[in-house]
Amino acid sequence: MHFSFWEKTGFALLMAAWVVWGSNQIGNMLVHADELSEDAYKIEVAESGGGAAASAEQAPEESAMDLLASATTDRGEKVFKKCAGCHTIEKGGADKVGPHLWGVMGRALGGVSGFAYSDALAAKGGEWTFEDMDAFLKSPRDFVPGTKMTFAGLKKASDRAAVLLYLRENHDNPPPLP
Ligand code: HEC
Repeated sequence: MHFSFWEKTGFALLMAAWVVWGSNQIGNMLVHADELSEDAYKIEVAESGGGAAASAEQAPEESAMDLLASATTDRGEKVFKKCAGCHTIEKGGADKVGPHLWGVMGRALGGVSGFAYSDALAAKGGEWTFEDMDAFLKSPRDFVPGTKMTFAGLKKASDRAAVLLYLRENHDNPPPLP
């Protein structure tokens, strides 16, 4: 049997179309199968993820709250040197890059009138509790996304506990410890 050039070309095109269509179908089947196996896999991940969360619960990150009893104001004063470039702590102290911190515990968030707070902190609302201050000092940007306090945070819970105590004592009426 002899085919002309055009017959061969037409045949080749048909073959090509069939291969494309066929592989598309096979591809669909494969993708479908993939989706199924992916779902099964995801469930496994969720389960082991839950396990990881559970083990994280067994070893919770240290909270400054638990360390307040063993913290000292002396240590707090030393740690506060990291803050003093931007904040005054003494009574009647001026606002610097950050607002003055005399009496900040129990004060409204963003509560110094005349200080140009970020919109984020101004809008947050509430009063400075020990828990919130702990969270803020650990990571200002996590506690108040958009804050203009460009301080990375105090990673050590013992440092935060000491500063919390120090902030509390620099106050007209130190609020009760939690
Ligand atoms: C680089 C300068 C800088 C450093 C360092 C810094 N702060 Fe701030 N802080 C700011 C600024 C600016 C704001 C205002 C944030 C805003 O408006 O979002 C602020 C806000 C605060 C507030 C909220 C006050 C209020 O009136 O609501 C507290 C509390 C605070 N800082 C404590 C600290 C402590 C404690 C440290 C040290 C561990 C520290 N800051 C280090 C600049 C700084």
